[in-house]
Amino acid sequence: MPTRILHKQILIPGKTSKLVLAAPQIARKARPGHFVMLRMSETGERIPLTVADTNPEEGTITIVYLVMGKSTALLETLGEGDDIHDVCGPLGRPTNIERHGTVICVGGGTGVAAMHHIAKGHSHVGNHVVAIIGARSKDLLLFEQELRAFVDELLVSTDDGSYGHKGLVTELLHDRLKEDRDVFEVVAVGPVPMMSAVADTTRPFGVKTTVSLNPIMVDGIGMCGACRVTVAGKPRFACVDGPEFDGHAVDFAELRRRLAAFRQQEAVSLEQWRASHGN
Ligand SMILES: Cc1cc2nc3c(=O)[nH]c(=O)nc-3n(C[C@H](O)[C@H](O)[C@H](O)COP(=O)(O)OP(=O)(O)OC[C@H]3O[C@@H](n4cnc5c(N)ncnc54)[C@H](O)[C@@H]3O)c2cc1C
Ligand code: FES
Repeated sequence: MPTRILHKQILIPGKTSKLVLAAPQIARKARPGHFVMLRMSETGERIPLTVADTNPEEGTITIVYLVMGKSTALLETLGEGDDIHDVCGPLGRPTNIERHGTVICVGGGTGVAAMHHIAKGHSHVGNHVVAIIGARSKDLLLFEQELRAFVDELLVSTDDGSYGHKGLVTELLHDRLKEDRDVFEVVAVGPVPMMSAVADTTRPFGVKTTVSLNPIMVDGIGMCGACRVTVAGKPRFACVDGPEFDGHAVDFAELRRRLAAFRQQEAVSLEQWRASHGN
């Protein structure tokens, strides 16, 4: 069913946008950690995107995407009032959220938007939420104000030192874990190298660590096997068993290899699309 874009906000020009979609049924059911799959046409590939927020009263969901290749470039051509061909969801398992005490939520790049929804869930049940967000530079930082509105602590890092701590989110995480031994869980959403580094940082502290994996997905409902990941030596399908898994048990090297499997075809597809659209 066509899904109307009610609001579009360009967060980083040409790179990242936020869309508020009219999707009342998904808005009623989606929980933090869920994702949707959308298609730009009947024959288009499915794009998995995390639900970054919901408003069940208004019947809307929010998604935030990074323009990566052809399908997200096509999505970026749409604006307010346009329809997405179809949006399916909510998919995946929601985040396990219980009241436990202090939870540190780490987000990098576009992953900050998905992490924001998870952090909100932890805040609603009364956990003490520490958010750590990072980007290459200040102008690429997402969702700072949205997080500031409800988290108990917000720590910011930029690679170039243009805002907050100069360095990586994992340095802030390491320091925070050193000063507070009562952290119940660390949740990380972002690029694979970042999530892998977060798991390496928390391992010596023995803190439960949850990561949200983003393997290539095709059907999103457990039938095709495209999203296979290895967790604790066993094959798991991220679309139905995840996308969140124990960060200390994930085979990140395999995930990186599988994500890069179609780079050449993806580059050709983007080039052809750009040429045909005069971009
Ligand atoms: C559960 C889940 C949630 C996600 N949430 C978000 C989100 O909230 N915001 C966001 O910007 N991105 C998110 N992604 C990644 C997003 O789906 C890909 O960036 C997008 O599909 C790229 O498509 P493309 O045609 O623009 O790029 P392509 O040129 O096709 O691919 C560029 C790169 O994107 C990845 N990718 C390509 N196709 C897929 C696919 N079908 N499934 C997953 N990854 C793919 C691969 O690493 C690939 O090398 C999520 C992925 C998953 C699995
Ligand atoms: S995307 Fe097909 S099994 Fe997960």
